[in-house]
Amino acid sequence: MIAACDAPTSGSLDPWCLVAPEDDQRCDLGELADRFARCIRPRTGACASCHDATAPPALLKAPGPPWLDPDDSDATVRRVLELGLISARQPTLTSLFLLKPSGTVSHTGGVHFTLDGPDGAPWITFVEWAAPCVSSRR
Ligand code: HEC
Repeated sequence: MIAACDAPTSGSLDPWCLVAPEDDQRCDLGELADRFARCIRPRTGACASCHDATAPPALLKAPGPPWLDPDDSDATVRRVLELGLISARQPTLTSLFLLKPSGTVSHTGGVHFTLDGPDGAPWITFVEWAAPCVSSRR
């Protein structure tokens, strides 16, 4: 875990963003929003041009499902869950929130990180925290 922080391409990776949940059954939406704000939102600048739910679709480059509210992490987390982008079962293998931006499955918006590199690590950890909040599991 900590070793990833020293990897050359990780930049200023916050170690808190790599701490996996101890309890994979516990959902705390407030904490999940905090995790999004601190660990994922700084990496979503490129996503906004296509996924900004607050922008008129006509102004977006290639409109994708509107999961991102750039100013509201609570709303973003709700949308990510409601749109089914996190899978309850085997979340790190099957969640679209990982598979699309990593290009593991084809994504109009291209590839933004690799799942086996330090840039993908905070996304994987976020999905692990989000999975218990998928409604089908509660
Ligand atoms: C150039 C536009 C564009 C950019 C930039 C972009 N996307 Fe996308 N994305 C799309 C489009 C269009 C779709 C729907 C078609 C598809 O899946 O390719 C999509 C689909 C997705 C989906 C699946 C949604 C669903 O309901 O099927 C996820 C998750 C996603 N994108 C995440 C991201 C993330 C995270 C980023 C930034 C790191 C990003 N995208 C950047 C255009 C974009």
